[in-house]
Amino acid sequence: MKNKKNKEIWTVKDVLLWTSNYFKKNKILSPQLNAEMIIARVLNCSRMELYLNHDKLLNPKEREEIRNLVKKRATHYPLQYLLGETEFYGYKFLVDEGVLIPRPETEILVDTVISYIKQSNKNNWNVLDIGTGTGIIPISISKYFSNTQNKILFVATDISKTALENAKKNIELHHIQNIQLIQSDTSKDLSGKFDIIISNPPYISEKQFQNLQKEVKNYEPKSALFGGEKGLTYYKKILQNAENFLNKDAKIFFEIGANQKDDMEKIIHKFNYKIIDSIKDYNNLYRVLVLEKN
Ligand SMILES: C[S@@+](CC[C@H](N)C(=O)[O-])C[C@H]1O[C@@H](n2cnc3c(N)ncnc32)[C@H](O)[C@@H]1O
Repeated sequence: MKNKKNKEIWTVKDVLLWTSNYFKKNKILSPQLNAEMIIARVLNCSRMELYLNHDKLLNPKEREEIRNLVKKRATHYPLQYLLGETEFYGYKFLVDEGVLIPRPETEILVDTVISYIKQSNKNNWNVLDIGTGTGIIPISISKYFSNTQNKILFVATDISKTALENAKKNIELHHIQNIQLIQSDTSKDLSGKFDIIISNPPYISEKQFQNLQKEVKNYEPKSALFGGEKGLTYYKKILQNAENFLNKDAKIFFEIGANQKDDMEKIIHKFNYKIIDSIKDYNNLYRVLVLEKN
């Protein structure tokens, strides 16, 4: 845009329109939302305020900052890494490059564990989260029970140091005191007994990996996604050792990939566990399995 003196002028409205069109051309999903999130971040306002200030003029520094972020996003670099944060279970979480971006499906896993704890008479819980990533699972559960009689001690593990550093930042952000972070290959370096084991392990199969969208395949850590040829390696690894860490009547809560339930049933049976509950997602696919020892 040019004014009478041939000087560039850009309003919020102009830049929103330009950015969403640019994203459309570059095949970015939800181009309008992406444009709003980036511009709102640079202008330090809410998405709603962008529309209330449509005619505000942007200064050169703001334009430059927006341009840089927009260019990077157009390469399919994930928005969450670009902004350094995401939302999960209604809370803000910091997310660093090199750590899996939390997915909405995992809220079903969190909900299932919360319901199980709520319907029990037990107050004290020892819970293990294997492959904690950003720490969303233990943090969301801890926050839910923060003002209740339930006392939950979490051990949260990950093989990735980057993930554990990210989880630590989120634990501090949410002022959580009851989560111990341990670097471990599944449960190799652990001791203790748990009432609940939770895991959302890497479960993408070889075939699925080839078809992932660019944002995921090119930028998220393969070590957090890829679960071997059929995506089932980590479930076997966890079940192989789980018995050493389970209290009497303990339960295991797994998030699983779309269409993995049949294969999982065989593995679960082989390791002498049984499925006591299975929960579907919004697409009618089994997403969460709850197990106990036979
Ligand atoms: C699918 S991500 C889940 C992250 C987080 N729990 C969530 O739900 O968003 C799997 C996590 O397992 C971790 N991981 C991969 N291999 C592991 C292993 N051998 N032992 C422990 N954690 C592992 C990855 O680093 C990653 O953080």
